[in-house]
Amino acid sequence: MVFVWQIDKKCSDTLQFMADLTGKHIVLGLSGGIACYKAAELCRALIKEGATVQVVMSEAAAQFITPVTMQALSGRPVFTSQWDERQDNNMAHINLGREADAIVIAPASADFIAKLLHGRADDLLSLMCLARPIDKVPLLIAPAMNREMWAHPATQRNLAQLQADGATLLGVGSGFQACGETGDGRMLEPQELLQDVVAFFQPKVLAGQFVLVTAGPTYEALDPVRGITNLSSGKMGFAIARAAHEAGAQVTLVAGPVSQPTPRGVQRIDVRSAQEMQAAVMLRIGAASVFVATAAVADWRPAEAAEHKIKKASSGLPPFISLTENPDILGAVAQLPRAQLKVGEKGRLFCVGFAAESQDLLHNTSAKRERKGVPLLVGNIGPATFGQDDNALLLVDANNVRELAHNTKLALARQLVADIARRLHA
Ligand code: CTP
Repeated sequence: MVFVWQIDKKCSDTLQFMADLTGKHIVLGLSGGIACYKAAELCRALIKEGATVQVVMSEAAAQFITPVTMQALSGRPVFTSQWDERQDNNMAHINLGREADAIVIAPASADFIAKLLHGRADDLLSLMCLARPIDKVPLLIAPAMNREMWAHPATQRNLAQLQADGATLLGVGSGFQACGETGDGRMLEPQELLQDVVAFFQPKVLAGQFVLVTAGPTYEALDPVRGITNLSSGKMGFAIARAAHEAGAQVTLVAGPVSQPTPRGVQRIDVRSAQEMQAAVMLRIGAASVFVATAAVADWRPAEAAEHKIKKASSGLPPFISLTENPDILGAVAQLPRAQLKVGEKGRLFCVGFAAESQDLLHNTSAKRERKGVPLLVGNIGPATFGQDDNALLLVDANNVRELAHNTKLALARQLVADIARRLHA
């Protein structure tokens, strides 16, 4: 049987991708703090990502941003009082919490955090948090406060206890604060909070795993201003690092020269050449349980990089450039003796390679998998996907071929992560 596989260009032009929070209902709670201005953008971001959003505000929050603004952005009436008569049974604190897939408190002021900790319920927002079914409706907290308030032992004690009580702490940012001081305690930016909320809903199929990912091109210097590189954008590798982190893994990303933003919660090591990438990988591979090599490593580098810029010769002849082969990072990792590796559940490191081909994908991917000596190789058509946000993948192992249909790189990365998790737990 001839297996024909190619990216359907028509499909790629018209396919509508599903937003990450489609079908999720978020209750967005605002307590009083200057960071309320960021809650407006968070509300929009959640809705753009497919969620429905019900806003509940404390009286103090309404001093910083009006319920009118939040109503206009969420498309729903905002609730601020436990005495609100709009609900038939007059029990907004029960009804609003029961419908939620999660309650997100952003901003969570120091005072509101203290209130939550003590189970106080003297306004609608705290009442609703206390009355929520604790096993069914998760509570996510995005603190926002002055650096001294953040560092105060009372705040840290309260947050530790709130987490022990089952709440999820979304962390804080650091930097210039509205009060004029600089330090920790700023509310995370709306896009960061959005990523955290999206991640919260992803299944934790890689919990306890340590995943090492390579991504992007390498750059092989010819002289101080020129070099050999390729068109890889790093997007697929960055998406895999993000998806692995969302799935609960500890993730280190060794990245060639690309301008992608680092996914939240991922440790990033920037490198330039294949040799630097190899050194960074070998330093960390001993702790890894999964290695995913997506980097488009340059196969060759100039045998010698000139110390100064190579000048045009008066003869008009181009310079002679001698190339030497780069180390095969994936190939070398796959050959590492067990003693140098973390002995996981199955006593081995699980290696995944990528093949960026321009033709005959199945044949080239299968052959490359055997040559590299890895259990799973993922084929894709390089020229069709370099720099794009979407792709289609072919997963090839010793016995099977599985096609992951055209989708966003992040959606494909999540499917690949789920596939890897199944193999680890098989
Ligand atoms: N790879 C690597 N080190 C290299 C070359 C490739 O780790 N020096 C990894 C890539 O990250 C990828 C896989 O090996 O996971 C296949 O890369 P690819 O460039 O497609 O394969 P090559 O071995 O270079 O073969 P060719 O270029 O001849 O197709």
